[in-house]
Amino acid sequence: MDKQVSLEHVSFTLNGRKADVTPFPGERLSSLLRESLDARDVKVGCDAGDCGACSVLVDGDVVCACLMAAHQADGCKVETIGGLQDDDLTQALAQCFEAHGAAQCGICTPGMMVAAVSLLRDVSHPDETEVKDALGGVLCRCTGYRKIIDAVLHVGEEIAADDPVGHTGAAIRRLDGAEKIAGRELFADDIAPPGTLHVRVIRSPFNRAKFELGALDEWAEKTPGIEAVLTAADIQGKNCFGVIPAFADQPVFAQKEARFRGEAVAAIIGTPEAVRNVLDADLPISWEELPAILTISDAMAGGDNLHEGRDNNIMCGGFVTCGLPDDALKAADMTVEGTFTTSFVEHAYIEPEAGFAEMKDGRVEVHACTQAPVMDLDSLEEILGMDRARIRVVPTGCGGGFGSKLDLSVQPYLALATLKTGKLVRINYSRSESMQSTTKRHPGEMMVKIGATHDGRLCGMVFDGLFNTGAYASWGPTVATRVPIHASGPYKIANYRADAKGIHTHCPPSGAFRGFGVPQAAIAQESLFDELADKLNRDKLEFRIENALENGDRTVCGQVFEQGVGIKDCFEALRDAWKSEHAAADVVNAQGTAIKRGVG
Ligand code: FES
Ligand code: FES
Repeated sequence: MDKQVSLEHVSFTLNGRKADVTPFPGERLSSLLRESLDARDVKVGCDAGDCGACSVLVDGDVVCACLMAAHQADGCKVETIGGLQDDDLTQALAQCFEAHGAAQCGICTPGMMVAAVSLLRDVSHPDETEVKDALGGVLCRCTGYRKIIDAVLHVGEEIAADDPVGHTGAAIRRLDGAEKIAGRELFADDIAPPGTLHVRVIRSPFNRAKFELGALDEWAEKTPGIEAVLTAADIQGKNCFGVIPAFADQPVFAQKEARFRGEAVAAIIGTPEAVRNVLDADLPISWEELPAILTISDAMAGGDNLHEGRDNNIMCGGFVTCGLPDDALKAADMTVEGTFTTSFVEHAYIEPEAGFAEMKDGRVEVHACTQAPVMDLDSLEEILGMDRARIRVVPTGCGGGFGSKLDLSVQPYLALATLKTGKLVRINYSRSESMQSTTKRHPGEMMVKIGATHDGRLCGMVFDGLFNTGAYASWGPTVATRVPIHASGPYKIANYRADAKGIHTHCPPSGAFRGFGVPQAAIAQESLFDELADKLNRDKLEFRIENALENGDRTVCGQVFEQGVGIKDCFEALRDAWKSEHAAADVVNAQGTAIKRGVG
């Protein structure tokens, strides 16, 4: 049974010091620690108990602080990574984390360290299963977990000295590793001082809708705690941005029509309490939902175009050809073909987009998590219509980006809000807001045909790919033009044709995500290679080795690399593992149970 708590006041020990605070009704412990007690070493990734970034110790047990009501901490002993720094065990673990490179972006690291300290307090030499169990509630999107598990397993062992010269191939410590591991690295939501105004973006609830903004300024004036509302009317420069200037098409605030669910139409600025308590429906905005185009086939059917001049919603395309692919496929001894579809993929970095801005020395200063501060500056210069000398972009620690934080997100709202109010402002996207409004991996629809001769040599390939680029271009042109260059994979194919197009729909914009469309194409090409090798009765790995590009070969684009084409060596290095894994799989599969093992 939950204990009965006072709704007024809470008193507990935080990192050895008495804390007496008054949470707002329903406040989470994570929020209270960060906002009222300055424990910004407690990170928030999901606010839903899924990621574990907010892990703290409560009376010695690991707890997701975002799932614990602040009042439940009354009378407890709360420890965060910041408060564990004097502990010898924490220091030994920190050394191991550094030596093993177990902190990359570092946003999960405070939670990971807390979970590991708790384990090591109970079990001084845990085995791998115990480590995995203890850390299983903390997600990491960067490291792949191996380095973290190794770091915990090797606590207490002697750590090899660093290579003092830093030769190529030597593991060197991150310059910022110690700060991340101690929880001192400042990420985008860790900068704002107390009293900073909050900004919340008001977004379209429909995939496509017409909307009318009512008397927003009057609404703001009569709503306690709300300082101002931002709309497209506040933009002095261009209400348009995009990472590739020739394709820039995305408004900071939509005007009259929203083209995807989650598109910004306005933003409110106010005290944390006011911004938290206002509902989107409280604002005088009227909506009329319109029929939306959500699939590539509907987009190309000749109906509405999302953007003028992009007929059939074709944003742009890329094309590569060499040799005589149709003739080669006709002459091939064996051909395979298939249609492949892939879905949207969310980057799901643990740190949602966030930032802080202020007017300083006559300049707009924007602190935000970004992968591209100079591109952000270029865009802000255009949006604000200001000399770039009057704008400063300060990149904060970036808790994962994987491509999506190459695009603008919070930056224009922060800049416009501080310009309008003259005050300090901050913004922090919720997880669902981050997933709704930022870019995704492009879903692909690909038709591929590949041919080979009896002796296992590839002789021809054709690739046709359509990629759903969503409502705005973002990095779509890069995807459309890069896929045809790489859809052949690292293989010799003398006769080749590849065509790719980016297609607009009323979906969230697709953008950069490790590989720019090439992983999607590789799924199709590599799957068909397996089928082709099977049909030719050849080993799948040997088939790839026989067809791999080598130094001096010509790629499908006509490029000749004289050195550095190492793919054949990579495949050859896999031979032993390929054989042993197949043998192991054969043993499992011979048991005839429902569970089968495969090797890829
Ligand atoms: Fe608390 Fe994700 S589990 S922020
Ligand atoms: Fe774990 Fe980045 S280092 S999420």
